[in-house]
Amino acid sequence: MQTKLLKADNNNIQKVASLAGEVLRRGGIVAIPTETVYGLAANALSGEAVKKIFEAKGRPQDNPLIVHVTDISEVTPLVKSIPDEARRLAEKFWPGPLTMIMPKSDLIPDETSGGLSTVAVRCPSHPVARAIIKAAGVPLAAPSANISGRPSPTNAKYVFEDMNGKIDMIVDGGQSEVGVESTVVTLAQKPARLLRPGGITAEQLKSVLGEVVIDDAVLHMLKSGEKAASPGMKYKHYAPKADVTIVKGSLDAFRRFVAEKGDCFVLCFEGEEKYFENYVTYGRADDPSSQANRLFDALRELDEKGAKTVYARDPGTSGVDLAVYNRLIRAAAFKTANAK
Ligand code: TXA
Ligand code: MG
Repeated sequence: MQTKLLKADNNNIQKVASLAGEVLRRGGIVAIPTETVYGLAANALSGEAVKKIFEAKGRPQDNPLIVHVTDISEVTPLVKSIPDEARRLAEKFWPGPLTMIMPKSDLIPDETSGGLSTVAVRCPSHPVARAIIKAAGVPLAAPSANISGRPSPTNAKYVFEDMNGKIDMIVDGGQSEVGVESTVVTLAQKPARLLRPGGITAEQLKSVLGEVVIDDAVLHMLKSGEKAASPGMKYKHYAPKADVTIVKGSLDAFRRFVAEKGDCFVLCFEGEEKYFENYVTYGRADDPSSQANRLFDALRELDEKGAKTVYARDPGTSGVDLAVYNRLIRAAAFKTANAK
């Protein structure tokens, strides 16, 4: 398949969106920019179209997709009913990096919901994503536009690397701002449960809902036989080719730890470059959003540099860093070490 590459800028958004919308309406697959990461979009209401996403990504069939809309009013036909909590969260955080799970209506095919009785919906803020959903005239199912298991792509170059020849079109809308995927919260049970941390923090959710439970799988490896509330959490994820370990401790302790290891790469914060020979940086130590923005690119850059063994500085887990740690600990296959 020949993959078309279109660049969207301020002057041609409508034109590009209408070309992408046409492809989507006839059941094709288009990679679209969003403020979190790039998505691989198809008509969410067509099981046939959605199947092609799973094929392009090599994604397990039981891992459900997020359905993208431009306004909460478009959610009504997709769900049994909209819980009051969803309205309050949408009011505060939509459009933006928040996905909400609710009991689904019959309009949502099993392919989209991975056979579950619930559906995940999100309203992105990226102007190109919004224009494409409107032009398509249907809600769009869109997982991250990477090959399953690889870091999610935050720019068109990385989408091209993973998807060239497998999909109809890639729309280049520049670098994604947030850099990690949306926060996923389920409202299909009470109290609400955070399944995947993202740009909207647990603290922000609590400020609206009061109580929010953080699912065990956010920070810990599932024990064998344990069922994942979010199927995506059970798979190996975000993994670069290198063997990654998160090293806890101060910068000084980290430097001593790495010096003893010899031949390796480090994933460190900006300003720490001078201490290491082989490194990739991921944001500033005191700025979680900058770490989220850089993390997936940094993981891909480690691959590009041929890194085999990587020691990563610990991002911590407060605010947006819960999302950063959640992705990094999976890239590290849950390996951590303590530097003294
Ligand atoms: O930021 C994002 O959310 C990006 C952009 C493209 O919008 N999309 C994205 O989709 O990250 P994906 O498919 O890579 O991740 C969706 C996650 C998976 O972990 C999946 O298991 C979970 O959401 N999920 C989807 N529907 C669900 C449901 N009904 N119940 C539980 N988890 C669900
Ligand atoms: Mg993904």
